[in-house]
Amino acid sequence: MVLKNSISTLILIMSSLTVMTRGNSTDCDRRCLANILVKKELLSAPQGDNCTIRVNITSIQYETLSFDTKEMQMNSRIKVNMQWKDSDLGWTNDTYRFPTVVLPVEKIWTPRIVLDNAVETTMEPYTNDVQVRRDGVVEHSVILFTTVSCEINLFNYPYVFGECPVAINGWSQKSCSLTLSIANNVTLISGSRGEWQTLSVSKNEDKTQEDRNYLFVTLSINPFGAFVTLILPSALIMLADLVSFALPFEGGERNSFKVTLVLSFTMFLLILNEHLPNGGNCSPLLHYHFSFCLVCLVLSMLISIVLTRLSVDGSILPCRRVKVHPTLDTQTHGSVDEEKDTDVIEKNSGGLNSQQAALQKIVKFLENMNKDDKQTDDTMAFSYRLDKILFYIFVFIYISYIIILICITRTDICKVNNLDFWDDSEYYDDNFDYSYNPD
Ligand SMILES: *[C@@H]1O[C@H](CO)[C@@H](O)[C@H](O)[C@H]1NC(C)=O
Ligand SMILES: *[C@@H]1O[C@H](CO)[C@@H](O)[C@H](O)[C@H]1NC(C)=O
Ligand SMILES: *[C@@H]1O[C@H](CO)[C@@H](O)[C@H](O)[C@H]1NC(C)=O
Ligand SMILES: *[C@@H]1O[C@H](CO)[C@@H](O)[C@H](O)[C@H]1NC(C)=O
Repeated sequence: MVLKNSISTLILIMSSLTVMTRGNSTDCDRRCLANILVKKELLSAPQGDNCTIRVNITSIQYETLSFDTKEMQMNSRIKVNMQWKDSDLGWTNDTYRFPTVVLPVEKIWTPRIVLDNAVETTMEPYTNDVQVRRDGVVEHSVILFTTVSCEINLFNYPYVFGECPVAINGWSQKSCSLTLSIANNVTLISGSRGEWQTLSVSKNEDKTQEDRNYLFVTLSINPFGAFVTLILPSALIMLADLVSFALPFEGGERNSFKVTLVLSFTMFLLILNEHLPNGGNCSPLLHYHFSFCLVCLVLSMLISIVLTRLSVDGSILPCRRVKVHPTLDTQTHGSVDEEKDTDVIEKNSGGLNSQQAALQKIVKFLENMNKDDKQTDDTMAFSYRLDKILFYIFVFIYISYIIILICITRTDICKVNNLDFWDDSEYYDDNFDYSYNPD
């Protein structure tokens, strides 16, 4: 019994000794240290004496995923590398010998970045673990997928340069705040995405107020697609319309050609409407250009219809009777009859008087015919002259239109301000005394 008792006490002492040695921190490995840190449950922000948390953003990688021209929204992916100091996560030099330890990201506090002008944001940790240094400095990366609504001046579409701000900030509520200090280390990843290209991205600061940082993304459109599908066809159709003045207008051949042109042009209007935003402060000039082209095409079609009418009839009034050489027909019939008559008269009487009268009639008829022919010739010549004049007028209009267009695109008519999203109301409220008063 005594032996058994002494053995059990020995085992007890041994086990307590082993517990003590294991409890000694020099034997505690990285995982054990991590568990100790996790057990502290440091899920609230490291708040200093004056309730400000400072997070250093060491670098940013920016990538434009897409730009929706119709909705004027930009989707981007932003990777943010950051560092901050959480003193409670640190360990003293002599207790544990490791310089760093890895902790699961959801077990400690991580800052949440605010994008002031985002329509939609999702923020994900880049990795599930963060590295914590001995002095409590935490290194962490997050990926932000964000949709920013941003108005770009499309007046000169498809020759467009625009800027989109993406406001990256902490937050500030009265005296407490999360301050981001963003290093000027922003890199751009693969700038070309479909029609839109990202030219550059840089970090800017709002000059009127501190702590308002934004990424300034410069975008431009690759004009090739829009030029090939919209501008070139419209110019070619206008050219075809101009050249179609070479077609004869009598018989309506030209009219059917011009109707085809007008119909094909309406198709481009549909494409344009699907592709570009309509309305807004500055409608793209292309809308006006297409309207102008359509009006010109329809005008030229109407003119050619009127000319056809004029060539047939000598008058453009629709109420006048159309006569396709009616006098000629009746006169011819009449003349045959009359010739028969004269023959009969000649045979019957053989009188000189009647012969003379018949001759006079023939002369009169021939004169009438000549007069009719001359009249139609005159009308025709007049129509052709009118056609020629109208052609030159159109050429003049087109040339002056092109000159005006070039001048307009050179000027800066439209200006947009994309930095009007800041909310001033939530900023400092200086009337309240935040100082601690023990009385
Ligand atoms: C436990 O660690 C301390 C130093 O932190 C050391 O002085 C002591 O000897 C250690 N105890 C054992 C049993 O290893
Ligand atoms: C808060 O304290 C830190 C130092 O602990 C100082 O650098 C910072 O300027 C202070 N902020 C304010 C708003 O007083
Ligand atoms: C920018 O950040 C990258 C890491 O993302 C780093 O390698 C590089 O040295 C930094 N450049 C500057 C100028 O700080
Ligand atoms: C943040 O940046 C400032 C200035 O660059 C530096 O003094 C400070 O040590 C940095 N803090 C951390 C946690 O890296």
